[in-house]
Amino acid sequence: MFSYEDFDIKLDTDYIGRNFIYVEETDSTNNYLMNNSGLENGTLLFAEFQTNGKGRRNKSWLSNKGLNLTFSILFNNKTLLKRINLVNLAASLSVAQSIENLYQLNIDLKWPNDVLINNKKVAGILIESSSKGTKIDKAVVGIGINVNQPNFSGQFDIKPTSIRLESKTLVNRERLLSELLNIFEENLFYVVDSPQKILNDWRSKCRMIGEKVKIITGNETKTGIFDDIDRDGSLILKNNEQYEKIRFGDISLRHIPH
Ligand code: BTN
Repeated sequence: MFSYEDFDIKLDTDYIGRNFIYVEETDSTNNYLMNNSGLENGTLLFAEFQTNGKGRRNKSWLSNKGLNLTFSILFNNKTLLKRINLVNLAASLSVAQSIENLYQLNIDLKWPNDVLINNKKVAGILIESSSKGTKIDKAVVGIGINVNQPNFSGQFDIKPTSIRLESKTLVNRERLLSELLNIFEENLFYVVDSPQKILNDWRSKCRMIGEKVKIITGNETKTGIFDDIDRDGSLILKNNEQYEKIRFGDISLRHIPH
């Protein structure tokens, strides 16, 4: 059982998670926040179990009840919404930094926002948004972290792991969540004030930059060198001295081994 008191005592944020909604079960924490209006910026919905947890590219996100972290955060602040791609990178960066701080594990980020330990996936992020006219008016950042799950069954693109499996210790979910939110709010300050810092910190954790990659969008496949990420967080793919910008979207990125 998640202890709100243990979590709250370490929470040091101004707005993220200050409105905290806890549910035992929901279909998807992202759906819940997307479908409810009038909630304040930074509202967090935490679920012990999702009956229809969603991953990127129409996949499901499977997470055993009560062992992991599955939650979503609502943003309706205009300044942040204008920089939603950087918010996306800041989310994966913050997950990585919080796990590294608390458990001394080495994290690798995979564009756009997979969080890996020893080439296995420990966390994923799904951002959904709604627009009025041409402007995004609301975005939900959904984060799933495999925390204490002891084993995984099913078919996965990337082999899953949990912090417990990698660190060989039982993890305090309340502490991890508060650490993550404290770091995320600080990183969101940099998204607005010093985006270069977010880009540089993110780059420093992405070992795929400079490597040969394959990018699958819908039914199209492209190969090239993952040259860099640009100032809005898009991936720059280099092929025969030509540079192509790959935006966030329904994309699968694979490493091509040497
Ligand atoms: C991915 O495919 O890597 C993204 C996984 C995102 C899972 C989280 S769990 C909380 C939130 N609610 C959802 O339905 N999905 C996200």
